[in-house]
Amino acid sequence: MSDIAIVPAPRELTVHEGRWLTADPIGEAVRDVVENLGNTEYRIEVTAEGARLTAGSEDALRHAETTYAQLVEAAEPDEHGKVAVPLAHVADAPRFGWRGMMLDVARHFMPKDFVLKIIDVLALHRLNVLHFHLTDDQGWRVEIEAYPRLTEIGAWRAETMVGKMSHGQTEFEYDGTPHGGFYTKDDLREIVAYAAERGITVVPEIDLPGHMQAAITAYPELGNHPDRQLAVRQVWGISDDVLNVNDATVEFVKTVLREVLEIFPSPYIHLGGDECPSVQWAESEAAQKRQAELGLDEPGQLQGWFTAQVAEVLAEEGRRLVGWDEMVDTDCPRDAVIMAWRSAQRGEIAVKAGHETVMAPCESVYFDYYQGDPASEPLAIGGNIPLEKVYDFEPIPDGLSAEEQALIVGTQCQIWTEYMEGPEQVGYMLLPRLSAFAERAWGSPKTSYDEFLTRLRPHLTRIERIGVNYRPLD
Ligand code: ACM
Repeated sequence: MSDIAIVPAPRELTVHEGRWLTADPIGEAVRDVVENLGNTEYRIEVTAEGARLTAGSEDALRHAETTYAQLVEAAEPDEHGKVAVPLAHVADAPRFGWRGMMLDVARHFMPKDFVLKIIDVLALHRLNVLHFHLTDDQGWRVEIEAYPRLTEIGAWRAETMVGKMSHGQTEFEYDGTPHGGFYTKDDLREIVAYAAERGITVVPEIDLPGHMQAAITAYPELGNHPDRQLAVRQVWGISDDVLNVNDATVEFVKTVLREVLEIFPSPYIHLGGDECPSVQWAESEAAQKRQAELGLDEPGQLQGWFTAQVAEVLAEEGRRLVGWDEMVDTDCPRDAVIMAWRSAQRGEIAVKAGHETVMAPCESVYFDYYQGDPASEPLAIGGNIPLEKVYDFEPIPDGLSAEEQALIVGTQCQIWTEYMEGPEQVGYMLLPRLSAFAERAWGSPKTSYDEFLTRLRPHLTRIERIGVNYRPLD
């Protein structure tokens, strides 16, 4: 028998002596959604008479199928054309409801077919959220009918800086190569449907009011210097060009969001909120007037006001606002879900402020960080998160009360693509770190790292079958 290699490992797996002999283990398994299991729970029973998969919902039954398919791979064919499936009992349910991956398609556009493969990778790992980072300074990737220039102009940059951006850098070398692309509404509907069939929610992100240089390039009236024609940003880092806080801009964003909501049925909509400099608001007469009218002490507080205005569209449609952890500092709506990225401690601050929180801390689950010696790895943004560190990640920080822990609704890994030009580079940075992450997101029993590697080795073949690149094990 091959060894059983299920990734992420189920919470409870018992293997018994003996085999079930069958010509068709997948076709002959019995499947049922049952009432005596919770929504996210499933069971697999393989006895000498056959296999039975039961689950509390269709989504959980899908997880049962995924686990069962990996269990059946351990079966051996016999000389009569039958396979001998190990007798086993699986009782399983995920630890967290939000088990996500963020894909940045703004810094480098990724083809639709690759996004579909990423969804297959998520499904293989029983993850359930694709957070789609669709807009940023370097590119706008979602078709909006009311404002065609967002993609006609905002989806394309003339060229891109070469090499690693360092802090305070002002002189750059460029590659002389245009880059861009966007998804039509049909493309996005196809992605959403493909994900839904696999139990995955696509959460779109429209990052605002910062990270908007591409949109301001397309429509200069959105910026704080409407007389200035910007270019879609060609270097990395943070742009000072943020949205202005005029009524017309609030209306513009609301119109964009209404179209986004039509494409994405997700109950959660991400409105960014990270890294929003307020220098232009401090210098702008209109922003200063708005600040005074609202009785705000500082220009930075305009961010909370702006987000609350545009988030009205979400509330009207019964959708939940999600934002990066800076939102906690900007007086955001109480029911906003916070994504803690700057540190695990930012997650503690968010739950102590009463927010449901997704733990996405850069020190543990930013897969744009190096995963080995920078001297021999492809250029990356910095940091160092080898596979073993991901395997050791604990999403819930120490010292939280039971109520605070309950506010941690999940965890998410991030792929920012400044230094990843296409699918090959994304695969290399994502996998197999995502496999280790999936164990922590699912709540698999913690084993030694070596034991994890023993399960991971055969699992890499499944990733190969999907056709996504990965970093070979050391
Ligand atoms: C972020 O990494 N700026 C969320």
